[in-house]
Amino acid sequence: MLPSTLISIADLKARRDTWAAEGHRLAFVPTMGALHEGHLSLVRAAKSAADRVIVSIFVNPTQFAPSEDLSKYPRTISADLELLASEAVDAVFLPNDTTMYPEGFQTFVHGKGMALQLEGISRPHHFEGVLTVVLKLFNLVQPDIVFFGKKDYQQWRLISQMVTDLNLPVKVIGCETVRESDGLAMSSRNRYLSGSERPIAAAIFQGLDAARQLYRQGERSTSKLLAACHSQITAHPELLLEYIEIRRRRDLNAFETDLTEEAVLLLAAKLGKTRLIDNIELD
Ligand code: PAF
Repeated sequence: MLPSTLISIADLKARRDTWAAEGHRLAFVPTMGALHEGHLSLVRAAKSAADRVIVSIFVNPTQFAPSEDLSKYPRTISADLELLASEAVDAVFLPNDTTMYPEGFQTFVHGKGMALQLEGISRPHHFEGVLTVVLKLFNLVQPDIVFFGKKDYQQWRLISQMVTDLNLPVKVIGCETVRESDGLAMSSRNRYLSGSERPIAAAIFQGLDAARQLYRQGERSTSKLLAACHSQITAHPELLLEYIEIRRRRDLNAFETDLTEEAVLLLAAKLGKTRLIDNIELD
């Protein structure tokens, strides 16, 4: 049986209030649909943390720049609902654009510091759209606990920071990236890759893994670790690196030269028309 779909805010509130009155703990997984194993791993983590799980599917227009792929973003709602049914999700919130952004909408969450680096340079308004919609969804769903993938590492760190900064009563959990057998991180955008591009995309993980292996051998120089990753990726001229950086995990600030605390290597690359991001925690 398909999970019940909640379209309006009134329906969502009624369901949430019933569950709250019954004393249920509510977990939430926000998504933009085009679901894959990565999303399902978040749903499974949510199910093990709470006795009611809501997933939202909303392709949020405010996090896409006019030049980006909003109209082409994959929309696979029937398949998504089937997948969520197989995971026994309790309800799916499916708002439309006017529900989330009614006429006259004009208030946005603007992150500073961490939001202005890495993806924030390549996509200047992206995180404003993400933080705004996520805050709205948190206010509407009022979950106890929420799940995000570390594949979007900067997004996960920013949302955690927003929860701290704005004293939001919700616990944020970051879940490990789910990868294909050749290491490519699962992403809704992988379906844009052509047959000849797909094997080349695996070099991204090979690069990340090369840096991690070097780290495990004791290397702590950021330039040497980056070079190990860089050489694997640039061996494929089709992969155009946009950025490749090693940052502190806690605040995504850069290191002076050597790693002095927990670090993550993050990168973005273009392959044909597809922009791919990935990262690896060095441990
Ligand atoms: O990661 C995503 O799918 C989106 O950025 C999110 C968090 C659902 C907000 O639209």
